[in-house]
Amino acid sequence: MDQSPPLRVAVLGSGRGSNFVAIADAVRKRGLPVDIRLVISDVESAPILIHARYRDIPAQFLPPGGFRTKLDEAAESTYLAALEGAGVDFLVLAGFMRILRGPLLHRFAGRVVNIHPSLLPAFPGLNAWQQALDYGVKVTGCTVHLVDEGVDTGPILAQRAVPVLDGDTASSLHERIQVAERELYPEVVGALARGEIQVRGRLTRGFSDGR
Ligand code: GRF
Repeated sequence: MDQSPPLRVAVLGSGRGSNFVAIADAVRKRGLPVDIRLVISDVESAPILIHARYRDIPAQFLPPGGFRTKLDEAAESTYLAALEGAGVDFLVLAGFMRILRGPLLHRFAGRVVNIHPSLLPAFPGLNAWQQALDYGVKVTGCTVHLVDEGVDTGPILAQRAVPVLDGDTASSLHERIQVAERELYPEVVGALARGEIQVRGRLTRGFSDGR
């Protein structure tokens, strides 16, 4: 069991929540020094909320407002109030389908982490596995990175490669990438919580992939 004081995090997600489940289960089974104080979703029916409630972790649907790819101003304030109310120090994005900008990102500058299903800087944005297939690469993977104002442009903390196989479909490749995500993301969140990762501008060090 780790002795560091726990990092108080909120997990934000819009969908299935398999990365959230991997992190929550690693906290419980491997004793990661992480306290998941809140799960927020912009989608009322998102399974991530059900997974959180099943684990007795507070979970809220917070409406995102009128935009499709970001939170509107009123929603940003609501999200911020919920995060502050829960005493959160760090945000873990796990399939949250909106870009964070403005006051929310400023409040948590340098303390928002995301996982993206490609080896960045290749294939940022949506459906990265489909982009990889269409491009014809033989290796893709996943990237854990800090979130800045751009789309999937923040400092890279860790990456894991995944092969693209002959005959892969979008769903078979995405599933293989997600297996890697569920291994890598909890390890990186644990390393962040233990204060092992240093960030200097774009350059980061301190995470060693135990694989
Ligand atoms: C993952 O593939 C992640 O890379 C992307 O969104 C997906 C979320 O999946 N950002 P899940 O909701 O964690 O299952």
